[in-house]
Amino acid sequence: MPPAYTLKTAPGALPLLGHVHLLVRRPLDFVAGLSRHADVVRISLGRASAYVVCHPDLVHEVLTRHHVFDKGGPFFDKLRQDIGAGLASCPATQHRRQRRMLQPAFQRDRMAAYAAMMAHEIHQATRAWQHGQILDVPSATCRLTTAITARCLFSTGPQVYDIPVHAYMDEVNRGVARRVILPAWTGRLPTPANRRYQHAQQGLRQLTRLLAADYRSAAPDQPDLLSLLTAARDDDGRPLTDEEIHDQIVTFLLAGMESTAGVIAWALHLVGTHPDVREQIQAETDAVLGRRPATYDDLPALSTTQAVVNETLRLYPPGWLFTRTTTTDTELGGHRLPARAAIAYSPYLLHHRPDLYAHPAVFDPQRWHHGNPPAHAFIPFGAGPRRCIGATFGTTAAVLTLATLATRWELRPLPGHHARPALGASLAPHPFTMRLYDRGQSCPSAGRPKPGPASTVEEPEER
Ligand code: HEM
Repeated sequence: MPPAYTLKTAPGALPLLGHVHLLVRRPLDFVAGLSRHADVVRISLGRASAYVVCHPDLVHEVLTRHHVFDKGGPFFDKLRQDIGAGLASCPATQHRRQRRMLQPAFQRDRMAAYAAMMAHEIHQATRAWQHGQILDVPSATCRLTTAITARCLFSTGPQVYDIPVHAYMDEVNRGVARRVILPAWTGRLPTPANRRYQHAQQGLRQLTRLLAADYRSAAPDQPDLLSLLTAARDDDGRPLTDEEIHDQIVTFLLAGMESTAGVIAWALHLVGTHPDVREQIQAETDAVLGRRPATYDDLPALSTTQAVVNETLRLYPPGWLFTRTTTTDTELGGHRLPARAAIAYSPYLLHHRPDLYAHPAVFDPQRWHHGNPPAHAFIPFGAGPRRCIGATFGTTAAVLTLATLATRWELRPLPGHHARPALGASLAPHPFTMRLYDRGQSCPSAGRPKPGPASTVEEPEER
């Protein structure tokens, strides 16, 4: 064991409160500024402390040694009470078995089929859009990504849509974020919010029971997530219980829906407020797609759109702060850490370090054409054994959506309506609106050739 160094404490702590006031008042600035003080910085949360890891190599080490830096502590205890111990919340000892069982649903060879379903959902979500309409962007993207996740991973047929998955997930998402932060007893009070949460949980339970029963009687021949879950057997040959299947489904809907929706909403805002980038995307999609929707085979040719998605993930990584707990006394970067220490890492912090990214606050998709960022410095999907299982799925959905929209629609910001981060479990934007312009009609981007008439837009084929 190396000598015990005194870990540096971040400045600005108040008696009793510690750094809580800074975390509440300006969490992003506070966390992003920690790397100025040391590679591992202690912050005080009233009576408790946490250690924020600020150096990309040390973050990588934490994420790789996942049996020592495990998912645990009060946050995960509460989370597991609400959503069970599915893939995202289970401890390291259960992780390998679950990950091996679920990984086949996310193999690259599945993506082309998923992309076709995504294209279908993008068409469904935008078919009623009107020239000049004002759109609530985050709510539209959230509906879209819920439909995409539900259709690709859990559905062989339309029965999913008879149950309001989106409304229920929205309620569960907010409920989980609230319950993880507030004391446990507040969750038992008969408040309207708690009743809505219980109602949504029951609705989802009914949905997952129906889906599991359908799949058990006639599993599809493709390995989507639910067919893997219903076919899975433990070492004694027992299938997963309905409860375990439910926990995984809710985990995947929660993990996949808001993160991808947030990225698409931020990207639409950033593109709408950067006319030069908008023109570059339109030039790319006009050349590659014309008026047709984007497909899986188009992805390699959509490098500008991909760079916009990367840059959005850098500026606004949906998961901005994650926690771990040490399972034993250990050492990190020359510092001794005791067992049960609370450890935090923040993709937002690394993505905004000025020594890793020039002008980190500037939205500049071009930086992705000038080489890769330094090692371990770009981690919107985490790293190591617990790296996001849906990373390719999420980026494919985002690129296909942005490219397909750009073939026909221009989204313009409205005066006085700015997108601002709404910090909850994820770095999603507060509700904001934009105005839709059909590029085939009188579009504000004057002086550039307009694409063909709207009637040539094709309904994508569903595979
Ligand atoms: C752009 C969108 C997405 C982003 C930025 C994102 C980000 C992340 C991050 C940072 C982690 C690691 C968390 C940690 O270290 O504690 C993670 C894990 C996870 N994500 Fe995603 N995610 C996205 C989309 C998705 C999608 C679409 C799905 C599923 C459909 C998904 C399912 C999961 C699951 C199940 C885990 C836990 C993996 C494990 O522990 O083995 N995510 N995600």
